Amino acid sequence: MVVQGLDNGVARTPPMGWSTWNTFRFDVSSSLIIKSADAMISSGLRNAGYEYVLIDDGWPMCAEYNHRDGHCLVPYPRDSQGRIQVNTTKFPDGMAVLADYIHSKGMKLGIYTAVSETTCGGFTGSLHHEKIDAQTFADWGMDFVKMDTCGKGPYGCGVHDGCMQNSTAAMRDGLNATGRPIVFYIDAGNPTSSQRTYNPYQYHVRPEAMVKVASIPSQLVWEWGPSTANMWKHWFDIGDNWASTIDNLHNMARLEMYQTPGAFNTPDMLTVGQGAMTETQYRSQFFLWAVLGSPLILGNDVRSMDNFTIELLTSSEVLAVNQDKDCVQASLAHFEGATEVWVKPLSSRNFAAVLFNNGPEPANVTLEISSNYQGNGDFYPATFPSAHLRDIYAQKDLGVYTDGYTALVQGYDAMILLVIPDLL
Ligand code: GAL
Repeated sequence: MVVQGLDNGVARTPPMGWSTWNTFRFDVSSSLIIKSADAMISSGLRNAGYEYVLIDDGWPMCAEYNHRDGHCLVPYPRDSQGRIQVNTTKFPDGMAVLADYIHSKGMKLGIYTAVSETTCGGFTGSLHHEKIDAQTFADWGMDFVKMDTCGKGPYGCGVHDGCMQNSTAAMRDGLNATGRPIVFYIDAGNPTSSQRTYNPYQYHVRPEAMVKVASIPSQLVWEWGPSTANMWKHWFDIGDNWASTIDNLHNMARLEMYQTPGAFNTPDMLTVGQGAMTETQYRSQFFLWAVLGSPLILGNDVRSMDNFTIELLTSSEVLAVNQDKDCVQASLAHFEGATEVWVKPLSSRNFAAVLFNNGPEPANVTLEISSNYQGNGDFYPATFPSAHLRDIYAQKDLGVYTDGYTALVQGYDAMILLVIPDLL
């Protein structure tokens, strides 16, 4: 199957940037955005390609806060023209001035809303106001819109009645009508738990991790996502821990066919640099997100990054794999015990491969070269007699291999290789 990606001219390769959510939750402000953008420039992130600065939930005016956790208990009314009002304490100069600043730095600005009357955090959402909100975001100079799907009670959109598809389609049309190039992201991972979208394909990969198969076609966001948005998430929010990283990773398996330039699956933001995992675990997360061809949206505090984090995130050969123009998502070509091999075909006709050890003990991981993994019923996109291998994180050539290449990979660690086949 060949999917047709949304043809709105943007996100021809996976968008890269940073979002406020993972670290700052509802505590967003223009000063945080400006300081973070400045830090992205001084640390080299912007020049490495991280150009989107994304304001997540918490930016609209709120009539009554829960001061304990920053949720909005009573959303603020729209203005006389029906527009969402910006919190003037957090954004004293308004959004357009902030967008001007970000643009003057060669970067792009994004904003957040939801397909419900209130966002996940209880702030004003866009349900039934998609058109005017799209216009407002464009008028402010936004370059990216994330639309969430937290449907709560009578205010929620839900998924069973097609409301989620209708509201996101209305936002897509509204954004297109503005004439401004805007990346559109649907976070479909947050309907109420009984309505969650499940990935039936994952069953073939890690049966023991399977929870439930979606029975309602409208829940399968990857099927209607490519014609509606530039990117979508169907699974839980990522947390800065290993179990969450692995769960989100495995839920990407077998969704390769839905990804194409302009339309991306995503296992959610990265947590690299947030501090609760080891360097090894962050490195693995980054390599895996890279070969998935997922959008790379950071969630750490970019104002205070150590050298390891900066070097990892700006690793040029790894980023080049992620940004490959064919945008093919890596397949889980093989798994055995806790080890996994993910393979991404590249436009150059080479491949990128991640040799990954998902267990705590060191383990041998083998990249097959001439055997095509056949016999396991597993997937490998090509066979060839031999291949040159390069460790693209260490930037080191490993030599020519024929049958296969086996590496001892430490617990929770991964290697990312460029595989340059010798043609028959
Ligand atoms: C979640 C969403 C997060 C963040 C949050 C804001 O449901 O998946 O990424 O946007 O809502 O309230």
